[in-house]
Amino acid sequence: KRQSEPVSLDEASGRWQVFRYRDGVTVATDAKRFSNDLSAFIPDHEELRTFTKGNFQAMDDPRHRQMRSLVSQGFTPKFVQGLAPRIEQVAAELLDRIADRGGDRIDLVADLAHPLPVTVIAEVMGLPVADRHLFRRWADALLVDNGVDALFSEEGVAAMAPSIREMNQYLLSHVREYRASDRAGLIRALVEAETDGRRLDDQEIVGFLALLLIAGHLTTSTMFTNAILSLDENPGAVKEIRADRGLIPQMLEEVLRYRSPLVWLDRRATEEVELGGQRIPEGSLVSVSLVSVGRDESEFTDPDTFDIHRAQIRHLAFGMGLHFCLGAPLARMEVRIALNAMLDRYDDFRIPTDAPIVFHDPKDFNGTRQLPL
Ligand code: HEM
Repeated sequence: KRQSEPVSLDEASGRWQVFRYRDGVTVATDAKRFSNDLSAFIPDHEELRTFTKGNFQAMDDPRHRQMRSLVSQGFTPKFVQGLAPRIEQVAAELLDRIADRGGDRIDLVADLAHPLPVTVIAEVMGLPVADRHLFRRWADALLVDNGVDALFSEEGVAAMAPSIREMNQYLLSHVREYRASDRAGLIRALVEAETDGRRLDDQEIVGFLALLLIAGHLTTSTMFTNAILSLDENPGAVKEIRADRGLIPQMLEEVLRYRSPLVWLDRRATEEVELGGQRIPEGSLVSVSLVSVGRDESEFTDPDTFDIHRAQIRHLAFGMGLHFCLGAPLARMEVRIALNAMLDRYDDFRIPTDAPIVFHDPKDFNGTRQLPL
């Protein structure tokens, strides 16, 4: 479709789909014509109202800027850098556990790729790591299990509602605990933060936390497994990064271009817009295919080749513009540390040919549920 219908209406979902890189940049960055507030498409459901109240990803400026600046204060480069020793320790513990168990097969998702970021995000937020199975269930319910359009239908929202309710109640009880105690941490900072001369209420903080919790782990674990998939297909690249670990950061940017974990980036057209020769009516749902834009031949030379030496990799996997992913430095660091830990520990690792890789439905999420290694 990128060549034949680069901007086209998908009748079934009602989405205007955008497949070319340049158009994707326009949709992601032109906040005046493309709004992040998708509430017009989302059924009005009590659970969702609570969830969306503090979710600044779904807001436009000025509210977005005010809310984002509160959390950014806690996500400074210095803070993220300071997490490195702890991330190295968690990765080492997970690899020790694999070694203690013995055998020569693992499921990379269950054994390392998921527990690492979920442990990190839980610790950053001050939530009990022992509850990580709940975090996974909620992220699955919101991002993958119910399909990409679940948020936009009564049926889909009803399917997600029990998980959202459970998550809201869980986070609310932690916010109340923080209010009643003097424990330090991100939740404490949010409880005390002031915006517009007023404090955040409990529901706003719950929305904030839900956003971090959901955005912060499934995506990162998918970036990691996508890196392993790409390396497995390119043994030459493995040799190169083993010889020069300094190549890992640019290799990971190529992974994000080649296999964006998120499939769609959604916006609402605030006015009639002409894009890719099409007239998109005001109020339309406009979705950039992050998977397609990374392979756009008018932007990237040999886009289907995984090339860790590309000069400039301007992918959209973390978005672009005002809503650029707040957790990108953290995600990049976690994956770099996890990969280095594996290279240190194992002389060789391969995806076996006799065990199935289980993928998510590719229209919902671009990665694996299980990756035997
Ligand atoms: C925003 C992807 C990891 C927190 C975004 C956006 C994308 C994205 C595409 C832009 C959404 C938009 O423009 O509407 C990813 C990917 C990740 C990742 C692919 C891992 C490889 C993380 C982590 C965290 C996080 C680890 C938290 C610790 C956020 C937040 C936003 C966001 C809070 C909203 C920013 C805003 O609206 O201003 N992410 N993300 N993400 N991400 Fe990430």
